[in-house]
Amino acid sequence: MSVTAKTWPQLAYLLIFSFSLVHAQVSYTIPEEMAKGSVVGNVAQDLGLDSHRLKSGNARIYTGDSTEYTELKKESGLLLIKEKIDREALCAKTTPCALHLQMILDNPVELYRITVEITDINDNAPSFKKKEITFEISEIAGIGAKFMLEKAFDPDVGINSLQSYSLKPTDHFSLKLHNQADGSKTVEMVLHKSLDREEHGRMSLLLTAIDGGEPQMSGTVQIHITVLDANDNAPVFKQKIYKATLTENAQKGYKVATVSASDADEGSNGKITYYIANIMDGLADVFTIDQMNGVITLNGEVDYEIANNFQIDIEAKDQGGLSDSCKVIIDVVDINDNKPSINVLSMPKSISEGSQLDRVIAMINVNDPDSGQSGQVHCVLNDNIPFSITSASNNFFSLKTQQELDREKNAEYNITVTCADEGVPQLSSSVDLHLQILDVNDNAPVFERSFYEAYVVENNTPGQSVFKVKASDSDWNQNARVSYILEESAVNGVSVSSYVSVNADSGIISAVRSFDYEQLKELHFCVKAQDGGSPPLSSNVTVKIIIQDQNDNAPQILYPVQTGGSVVAEMVPRSADVGYLVTKVVAVDVDSGQNAWLSYKLQKATDRALFEVGAQNGEIRTVRQVTETDAVKHRLTVVVEDNGQPSRSATVIVNVAVADSFPEVLSEFNSFNHDTAYSDNLTFYLILALAVVSVLFIFSLTAIISVKIYRWKQERQFYKSGSNLPVIPYYPPVYPDGTLQRVYNYEMCGTTDSRMSDIKFVRPYSQNTLVNVSRAGTVQREKREQEEADLILEVRIIAYSERITLRVELNAAFFLENTYFMSLASKVFDEKQDYMYP
Ligand SMILES: *[C@@H]1O[C@H](CO)[C@@H](O)[C@H](O)[C@H]1NC(C)=O
Ligand SMILES: *[C@@H]1O[C@H](CO)[C@@H](O)[C@H](O)[C@H]1NC(C)=O
Repeated sequence: MSVTAKTWPQLAYLLIFSFSLVHAQVSYTIPEEMAKGSVVGNVAQDLGLDSHRLKSGNARIYTGDSTEYTELKKESGLLLIKEKIDREALCAKTTPCALHLQMILDNPVELYRITVEITDINDNAPSFKKKEITFEISEIAGIGAKFMLEKAFDPDVGINSLQSYSLKPTDHFSLKLHNQADGSKTVEMVLHKSLDREEHGRMSLLLTAIDGGEPQMSGTVQIHITVLDANDNAPVFKQKIYKATLTENAQKGYKVATVSASDADEGSNGKITYYIANIMDGLADVFTIDQMNGVITLNGEVDYEIANNFQIDIEAKDQGGLSDSCKVIIDVVDINDNKPSINVLSMPKSISEGSQLDRVIAMINVNDPDSGQSGQVHCVLNDNIPFSITSASNNFFSLKTQQELDREKNAEYNITVTCADEGVPQLSSSVDLHLQILDVNDNAPVFERSFYEAYVVENNTPGQSVFKVKASDSDWNQNARVSYILEESAVNGVSVSSYVSVNADSGIISAVRSFDYEQLKELHFCVKAQDGGSPPLSSNVTVKIIIQDQNDNAPQILYPVQTGGSVVAEMVPRSADVGYLVTKVVAVDVDSGQNAWLSYKLQKATDRALFEVGAQNGEIRTVRQVTETDAVKHRLTVVVEDNGQPSRSATVIVNVAVADSFPEVLSEFNSFNHDTAYSDNLTFYLILALAVVSVLFIFSLTAIISVKIYRWKQERQFYKSGSNLPVIPYYPPVYPDGTLQRVYNYEMCGTTDSRMSDIKFVRPYSQNTLVNVSRAGTVQREKREQEEADLILEVRIIAYSERITLRVELNAAFFLENTYFMSLASKVFDEKQDYMYP
């Protein structure tokens, strides 16, 4: 270090000064912060002392109490740095800064003054007391607003001290320095562009303080600015319109939609609350909105059928009173929640049967408030009923008959109408209708049987009920009330009502009179059953009453004829062989069947060994050869008995003369005490009758042949018309062997004298036939009638004596009449034969 050169002027001053107070003085100038051991100056040399003196004088530096920054090297006389010297610590802002040292020598005492001036070096940077500065500035702060900043401090002095500031960045703020009276500067930050918290909520600026040293040093401080919010932004909804759907009948509390608004402001200015604006519409009852989070929830019930759409105005407000609104459109989705409702508009309680097809019975209105498919309704009926349902028009259905209704099949119907919509799930409802079918008199009474047959034994008591007819009517009530009426007809020329009566209510048929089988075998009549409808319906049934025979008639002897007083005798020649047919007892019984089944018995006889009576046929035959000794007169008592229960009988006395000549008989018979003249007469008549019969038979045969030829010619003409066929006469039924046919015989009884009664039997049909057969002339007809009557008479006479002649008789009659009757008669005859000869 070149102390000398540097300190020349100082040295001069030291010299002058030291002469006055002390021996000498020296001054040095050194910069601060020199390293330990650095040489400040050569004190010995500068003070002109030799090193010995220093040693001997025990030179030393006196600093008083203050820090010893320096030390003196006695050997070399050099002043060295003992402690690092910091000017700022030593002198602070005082300039110049110097250390004032005294060097003391002993032997002699000498005092030397040493001044060490310490010069500043730029060893301190400007610094700020705080590491950072924070500001909170409202965003609405006006331009030009000033904010005082902290000053920096630099302990250096002079040019090395704080010189200026700078601020970065300078977008919004600039620096402004103000010189103070003490030479320092205040620092201000001035807003020159308005703040927007929403844009820059926080800013960091760096303030730098710079000194003037070489090299320049600086200190910085961070300025943090928080921009305070002002309510300068209204809330804004994210969407202007929100859309949501909601199914009807959704649960209360269902979250419908969430609206959201934002507010760029902060704090209370940005705190949004939501409201439903159109509360007047009653929507507030249905929906609520969470004020805080904008969640709209269902609070009531939603029914599509009442409202299918909602529009909610939502308002969002911040605390500063700014607001925004949006619209929420909620569409309600229909679900099938309504059953169809069935309304029967008109329905009669009853209709009459037989109503025509497609008759509308009822109109039905069906409503389903659901929409779309859920509101589409169709209706069906229960099965197996004769009705149909058709859609008349929208929502209207008509119930019609599908068939004719028949009360007799079904008197009432339960009609179930079921209507279902087409929603998913399907909902349906049904209604039960009851329909009564009224009766119409459309059914006639029906007899239980198509034909009634009853038996009644003759000789019944009058008023006896015979049997009962019954008819039923399937209609109802009065229409089914059956009365029985006897249809008027004639039986044997008498009104049927004189035979039978019918109880109108019960249908019981009673006999009005006592019946006689022998007069009436059967009774045919009609009974009508009539109902009480209007008009009434009726039906007929044929009733046949068969009268049954009782054995109420005894056999009647036809031959031999029992005449009062006169004696008729059968002649038996003495030469007669065994089995000679003496005669035949002919009897009839007007009863029928067993009651008319006759048997013959020989009850008494003069000579029982000579004669026998055929039990079945009444033939009296000889049993043995007649001998000379046999008496002429024989008296046989024959009993004729019928087979009824109890049986009835008749007896006849047969006189037999065994003689070879007629005079013998006469003489013998005189002794019978009878009128011989009568006997002679009778014999004569018999012979005469036989002769007449023979003649008539031959004559008849001739007549038959000629008539037959004539008929054959007329045959075609005869058969032209069916109506010309003769009325079939009553033809006698079959009778058992041993009995002659009843009517036949009945008519014959008195024929010897009365031809008229005989002819009466045949005449009705012969007359008819004759009219048809021969229109030639009345002469011919009368002649024919006469012939015919004679023939029949004759044939009948034969019939009495020999049964086999019946065949001849019939054949003759048939030839006389037309062929139709012939075939019918021969058929009956064949049957008769079968019966006779089984
Ligand atoms: C109809 O219903 C009624 C009452 O339920 C019942 O008494 C009647 O028997 C029913 N009729 C028919 C024909 O089913
Ligand atoms: C009933 O019979 C009478 C006479 O036999 C007849 O005139 C009438 O038409 C018949 N009535 C019916 C319904 O058959």
